[in-house]
Amino acid sequence: MVFEHKPVMLKEVLEYLECRKNGVYIDGTLGRGGHTEAILHELDNTGRLIAIDRDITAIEEVRKKLGDRPNLILVHDVFTNIPDILERTGYTEVDGMIFDLGVSSPQFDNPERGFSYNYNAALDMRMDQEQSLTAADIVNNYSLPELTRIIREYGEEKWASRIALFIVKHRANKRIETTYDLVEIIKAAIPASARRSGGHPARRTFQALRIATNNELKLLEEMIGKVVPFLKKGGRICIISFHSLEDRIVKNKFRELARECVCPPDFPVCVCDKKAELKIINTKPITASIEEINLNPRARSAKLRVAEKR
Ligand SMILES: C[S@@+](CC[C@H](N)C(=O)[O-])C[C@H]1O[C@@H](n2cnc3c(N)ncnc32)[C@H](O)[C@@H]1O
Repeated sequence: MVFEHKPVMLKEVLEYLECRKNGVYIDGTLGRGGHTEAILHELDNTGRLIAIDRDITAIEEVRKKLGDRPNLILVHDVFTNIPDILERTGYTEVDGMIFDLGVSSPQFDNPERGFSYNYNAALDMRMDQEQSLTAADIVNNYSLPELTRIIREYGEEKWASRIALFIVKHRANKRIETTYDLVEIIKAAIPASARRSGGHPARRTFQALRIATNNELKLLEEMIGKVVPFLKKGGRICIISFHSLEDRIVKNKFRELARECVCPPDFPVCVCDKKAELKIINTKPITASIEEINLNPRARSAKLRVAEKR
């Protein structure tokens, strides 16, 4: 099966990255290589792009599509390991980075990956197929309070406690193995009147389980703190997020790194000596154009934030 993924806000990313022909760049979320391919076009043979994905299929598919290129280094790893990846590849700093968060269309649209409530499949949802924890492990083993927290916090689902309760009751008789098993449990938990609006009733719970399975929010926050020291002065970090939980983390982490002094306001002089590491380029997130949204509805919820190394 051939799966396509249209890169989101490509024009804007290229505009803000301001690639130099001989620069070194990181694409921390390779996917099907949409941003990677466009950045490669900006570089000459002396430039380098290190492209990372935790999903081995992404690495294999892009290697097939783009072939071996002297200025492209493909790495199967998580983006929180960027400091080690740079050490392994012999770079001490880079000119820019792009992170396009979440799942790729090929992950979502491949029924076997278990990300989608539209196909019946094993309840998997791992971006990295070598990871042991699956979504099925979470729904079958986590406690009622932990399931409630995950569904409420990561899915922003108002029926979280009922859905968690129905999951726990169901699994007492029979293990929850498939996406459709879970969809049926969710439908039973949400009252019929509430199911008539707000899209597919399983959408928010599936989002929550995907985030928990892949530890997405924790890794995002950790990654920003770890990678900024490796940006050259003037180098930019661009992050595209797809829901408010991710965007809040990016906004707050950028703000924290852009702050000069963190002493309590009643201190007469600064004793923390904290220096701002970033300059925020856009205080309001950049969103996709109407034209792009018409061509690629996935771009509707995308938010791009950019910051520059001081
Ligand atoms: C939205 S897609 C990126 C699409 C890509 N920009 C393109 O144009 O094709 C996100 C990709 O990031 C990967 N990913 C998500 N979290 C990651 C992490 N913590 N470390 C490495 N890769 C990650 C996913 O496996 C997925 O392939």
